[in-house]
Amino acid sequence: MSMNDVVSRRRFLRQSFAFSALAGLGRLPALAAAKPSGAGESRLLMVGDWGYEDFTAQSRVAQAMQAYVKEQGFRTEALFMLGDNWYGPLRGGVKSERWKTQFEEMYPKSVFDCSAYAIPGNHDYQRMPESKVAAELEYAKARGTRWTMPSLWYSFQFPANKPLVTVIALDSNMPSEEGKWDKGTNFTLKPEQAAEQLAWLKAELEKPRTTPFTIAMGHHPIFSNGPHGDHKMLIRDWEPLLREHKVHMYLAGHDHDMQHLEFDEHPTSFVLSGGGGADLYTLKIEQAQRGPMAEKVYGFSELVVAPESLTLRHLDENGRLIHSFTKRPDGTVDVS
Ligand SMILES: [Fe+2]
Ligand SMILES: [Zn+2]
Repeated sequence: MSMNDVVSRRRFLRQSFAFSALAGLGRLPALAAAKPSGAGESRLLMVGDWGYEDFTAQSRVAQAMQAYVKEQGFRTEALFMLGDNWYGPLRGGVKSERWKTQFEEMYPKSVFDCSAYAIPGNHDYQRMPESKVAAELEYAKARGTRWTMPSLWYSFQFPANKPLVTVIALDSNMPSEEGKWDKGTNFTLKPEQAAEQLAWLKAELEKPRTTPFTIAMGHHPIFSNGPHGDHKMLIRDWEPLLREHKVHMYLAGHDHDMQHLEFDEHPTSFVLSGGGGADLYTLKIEQAQRGPMAEKVYGFSELVVAPESLTLRHLDENGRLIHSFTKRPDGTVDVS
C-alpha cells in the first residue's frame, strides 16, 4: 500500500462518514449532479433487473433516465443492461412484442442513440419453454438494433474512439460448486463453459493495458448487502483476478437495490445497480455496517468517463442523485 493509498483511504473513510451523516438528513440535491459533459468526457447509463412482467416500476425508472439525459443535455454513448433482462416468458423469442415495448420503446433510440451492451442474468437463463438467453443472443444479430450481446462473455472498449475503459462483460450464471450442471428450467453455464470463460478472463486481464481504466461486469454481485449476499464461487474464481489486475470497478445487479461497497486495500469498487424495475428486496446488511452505500430503492446509474477519473452516480426513480464516487487510474476513491 503506497502513501497515496493511505492518504486516500483516510480521506475515503472520512468522506464516507460525512456522506452517511448527510444521508441521514435527507437526499442530496439533484443539482449536485448537474454538470454538463466536459471536454474529453463520455457518459453512459446502466440499469439492472429491468425486464419485469409488470413494467410499472420499469417505466418510471426509464422515464427518469430519459428526463435525466434531457435535463443534463448530454449524449449517452452506451447503455449497460446488467441482466435479468427478461423475467417471465418471452413468447416468440426474438419476435416477442416485449422487445418493442420493454426495450426499444422503453429506452428509445431518440434519447439513447448508442449500443446497449447486455449481459445475461439468472432470469435470462430460463427455458419458458425456449431459452431466453438464446433469444437475446439472436436478437443482437437483428439489423438496426442497439442490443449488443455478441456472445455470453465478451469485451469492448469505451468510448469507441479514443477508448478510456476496457470493459469485460461476463456471464455469472455459474454451475454449482460441485460442478454439477443444472440443465432444467433454471439452467446455468456448463462447468466446461465456466472454465473456458475463466481462462478467457485471465487472458484478457493479462493483455497489456491500452486504457487507463478496466471495468468488469457480471449480473451476480461478488459482494452484496442484499439477500443474495456474497457469492462463494465468484469470490473463489473472479475476485482474486480483479484484485491482482487492479480492476477499477465490478458492476452487477441481481439484488434489487443500489449499492457501492469498498473493502480495505481492495483495488476494486463494487457497484450494484439492480433497481431497474423488478420488485425491491430488503437489505440484509446496512450501509453503516458495510458500505459506503446500500439502499432499497429503484433507480439507475451513470458513469462519467474521463482520462483521469471515473465518476459513478446512483440516481433514483425521480432522477435524484443518491450516491456518487470518483475513481482515479491509481485506484483511489473519493466519495462525495
Ligand atoms: Fe433480478
Ligand atoms: Zn438476478
